Amino acid sequence: MKRKPEIIGQSLLISQLKQLALQVAETDITVLIIGETGSGKEVLARFIHNNSLRADKSFIPVNCGAIPAGILESELFGHEKGAFTGAIQSRKGYFETADRGTIFLDEIGEMPLETQVKFLRVIETGEFQRVGSSETIYSDARIIAATNKNMYQAVAEKNFREDLFYRLRSVELQIPPLRERGRDILLLAENFVHEFEQKHKIVFEGFSPDAGEMLMRYPWPGNVRELRNLIESLLVLEKGKYITPEILEKHLVQRNRYKSLVHDPARSEKNELQVIYSNIIQLRQEVSEIRLLLQHLVQTKPLIPLLLPDAPAAIQPSSENSHDNEAQPLRSLDDIEKKSITEALETYQGNKRKTALALGITERTLYRKLKAYGL
Ligand SMILES: Nc1ncnc2c1ncn2[C@@H]1O[C@H](COP(=O)(O)OP(=O)(O)OP(=O)(O)O)[C@@H](O)[C@H]1O
Ligand SMILES: [Mg+2]
Repeated sequence: MKRKPEIIGQSLLISQLKQLALQVAETDITVLIIGETGSGKEVLARFIHNNSLRADKSFIPVNCGAIPAGILESELFGHEKGAFTGAIQSRKGYFETADRGTIFLDEIGEMPLETQVKFLRVIETGEFQRVGSSETIYSDARIIAATNKNMYQAVAEKNFREDLFYRLRSVELQIPPLRERGRDILLLAENFVHEFEQKHKIVFEGFSPDAGEMLMRYPWPGNVRELRNLIESLLVLEKGKYITPEILEKHLVQRNRYKSLVHDPARSEKNELQVIYSNIIQLRQEVSEIRLLLQHLVQTKPLIPLLLPDAPAAIQPSSENSHDNEAQPLRSLDDIEKKSITEALETYQGNKRKTALALGITERTLYRKLKAYGL
């Protein structure tokens, strides 16, 4: 008996997904599955089919991205003899074959625009014509599509019809990436170990606790497929070994990414420190700039009483200097800043690095300000 494909997983996200899938399985509603590569989109589509009333009919997977655009249409809708060069006999398309069953259109985002028009009609009426024929054929295929692309972007860029997109996602099922499934990672690993122990007649010695921890923290860019492949290579290539983090690391594809994310705590701590330092430096520069402005404000005394008529005595200009008040015109902060920059530039004879240093701003900020003030 053929093994019924299972969605392995007990995490909340996967349990909820299974629940939803079982609900839609009972209906003929069109489903759009969205998920990263290797996350199990086809597994989910098969699960829906197997739990539907169509379970005893065909499940036809079609990878729209793998079939050249020129022949996708004849593959999907079939063709008549002589419809194009090489069409030596008429042929049924996948929609006809999937009649009363399920058609699974993977990488739907890759479907050419001309094919999308015909496909929309099939979704709406079930009707289509074979290439080279005018006879209308009807197919009662349940449609499940999948993508790992950002379909909103494809629609915005006019590579995917908006009407088709909204029609397709009558129900949208999102498969979470493996890294968000917590202990399901270990559960899946265990299942794959059993599968490959039987297939290769090898006894697996197991993972050390650290290695298990590593599996949980690895980002799994290739998702379940990557985990499955990893387990198979561990079993075959590390025959009879107890799997330690060192062995595991050797087998993980994205080594650098992996290292910075999970393996080298000292390194990630260093990165964090660097971010903190650079923030502190930036903050210091900003404080210096503010201080510089404030100094000028204090030196340019008339501003204070003018800006703060009710200011307490402590910050009122001292009476001995009060005669300055009348002499000083009101100046904007920009004027003050421009003047300071000009003076500093003169002092350092146009040397930008020294000028910036003296002003307590970065050279980049200085250039920006020079440009803004047309200096
Ligand atoms: N929840 C799961 N339980 C058991 N096996 C799984 C699960 N999810 C994925 N797999 C296995 O992982 C592999 C990849 O799954 P599948 O082909 O469904 O992914 P996909 O999202 O369709 O990938 P792609 O983006 O490349 O089309 C398959 O070998 C599949 O059997
Ligand atoms: Mg797939």
